[in-house]
Amino acid sequence: MKDQEIVFTVMSMADYTEVYALWDGMPGIGLSNADSPDAIARYLEHNPGMSYTARKSGRLVGAVLCGHDGRRGYLQHLAVAPDARHKGIGRELVDRCLNALAAEGITRCHIFVYTDNETGLGFWETAGWFRRGNLMIMSHDM
Ligand SMILES: CC(C)(COP(=O)(O)OP(=O)(O)OC[C@H]1O[C@@H](n2cnc3c(N)ncnc32)[C@H](O)[C@@H]1OP(=O)(O)O)[C@@H](O)C(=O)NCCC(=O)NCCS
Repeated sequence: MKDQEIVFTVMSMADYTEVYALWDGMPGIGLSNADSPDAIARYLEHNPGMSYTARKSGRLVGAVLCGHDGRRGYLQHLAVAPDARHKGIGRELVDRCLNALAAEGITRCHIFVYTDNETGLGFWETAGWFRRGNLMIMSHDM
């Protein structure tokens, strides 16, 4: 971390309004009804202690969701406020999540990145994440 004023804490529903405001409209972040207060509360309850926020002087400047299905880990909605980027906040949020996953015996983590998200792809590839050219995501709505 380059900026020692940043405080990282496990995300709780007390953070929800600020976290949602950070995500809302940010390029690279896609929001849906899976990000409603009830849905996020359920997610955090299902994956306790794994999602993180970053604050600078009390102001929320970063957030990430993290969870696992007992087999693989997943990071979603990693976001850092534009004026707080390139200070190592994104990397620290990810490291905390990966440590939490590893502590639960999870050995691989996946992310979903929009194919046109050059910022996100640059970040992940710099951090050593690799593309899965032989896989694509398919989805089904219930
Ligand atoms: C991706 C994002 C979270 C990175 O946050 P950040 O706090 O700026 O990242 P860090 O400062 O920890 O970056 C660590 C390293 O990643 C690399 N990196 C960061 N942003 C990068 C970019 N846009 N392009 C290429 N490499 C990048 C750099 O090597 C950087 O180290 P350096 O600053 O010493 O060069 C932030 O740009 C963001 O919120 N983007 C919009 C939302 C988004 O796309 N999220 C990802 C969804 S999959």
